[in-house]
Amino acid sequence: MNRLLRFDGRVVVVTGAGGGLGKAYALLFADRGASVVVNDLGGTAQGDGRSQMAADSVVDEILKKGGKAVPNYDSVTEGEKIIETAVKKFGRIDILVNNAGILRDRSFVKMTQQDWDIINQVHVVGSFKTSKAAWDHFRKQNYGRIINTSSVAGLLGNFGQANYSAAKSGLVGLSNTLAKEGARYNIHTNTIVPMAGSRLTENILPPELHDALKPELIAPVVAWLCHEDCDENGVVIEAAAGFAAKYQWQRAGGAILRSSLNESVTVESVRDKWSEIIDLSTNADYPTAPEEAMGKLMDALRIQQKGLGDAQNVSRANLS
Ligand code: NAI
Repeated sequence: MNRLLRFDGRVVVVTGAGGGLGKAYALLFADRGASVVVNDLGGTAQGDGRSQMAADSVVDEILKKGGKAVPNYDSVTEGEKIIETAVKKFGRIDILVNNAGILRDRSFVKMTQQDWDIINQVHVVGSFKTSKAAWDHFRKQNYGRIINTSSVAGLLGNFGQANYSAAKSGLVGLSNTLAKEGARYNIHTNTIVPMAGSRLTENILPPELHDALKPELIAPVVAWLCHEDCDENGVVIEAAAGFAAKYQWQRAGGAILRSSLNESVTVESVRDKWSEIIDLSTNADYPTAPEEAMGKLMDALRIQQKGLGDAQNVSRANLS
């Protein structure tokens, strides 16, 4: 159990690795023997401008420590070029960490189409482009690891972040589907939900919290999810402050809205069953795939076929 988890021979792409979380990921992977493509466009936190300095300084730091790294300065919206750098310079790609991100926070009333588009371009389209370009390599070699980066704003919503929440929520959907499509090719896709002091959060978090929430506390969680020893696929992991935990969907026990198939569902029957519909305290389940989710709906139909829907909860009903 004390064996160090290493990444020798593995080629890792970390997008947005010129600072913040991505930098911590790149340094850790390199420290553990991986060859790292340090991608960063080098623009502002709002996505304006570009510079090679951010990626270069992280590559220098890795090389000085005896690690292996090359820079890439393309935007993730041209993700295929980033994967091409990995293949050209290191001959393969094993691990992709989709981390690059920007913010355009505004209340919804002030949000412009441009604010919406750029956030979705960088986060969703960017993660799609890199993943799409890496996918064929992963399939051919029967090995791949993808991390997509969501946010509590994506899972729970947050004032002033309609664009960002939608994009970050979209990445959970992307991850969950890639996890299912990649499973038989040993391609694992998981989602990280971080919280860290970085330039994105310097005006949001109080200074003492900003300093305490170090990106280095999250990097080992990402590295573990990307390691060949980790079987996890399709999970959402929150990590911050030296803490990590899985998030997942919960479905209430629910209610059947009519007693039999020849009755109608009415607005009043919905009203009358509302407390059961939203009650998560009894008979809740945690479906992770549409097939699993369907099971309960099929049970509900069978109960209505038998005319037993009245006052019956789907899970409680006796189907025998
Ligand atoms: P950061 O601003 O320190 O790092 C993001 C990096 O991405 C920057 O170096 C930036 O130049 C780069 N980047 C931006 N657009 C790019 C593009 N089009 N192509 C290539 N590189 C680009 O921010 P931080 O906090 O390290 O964020 C990393 C990721 O974590 C982001 O996706 C962010 O949304 C997410 N996140 C961060 C949280 C936090 O508490 N810091 C909370 C939840 C999510």
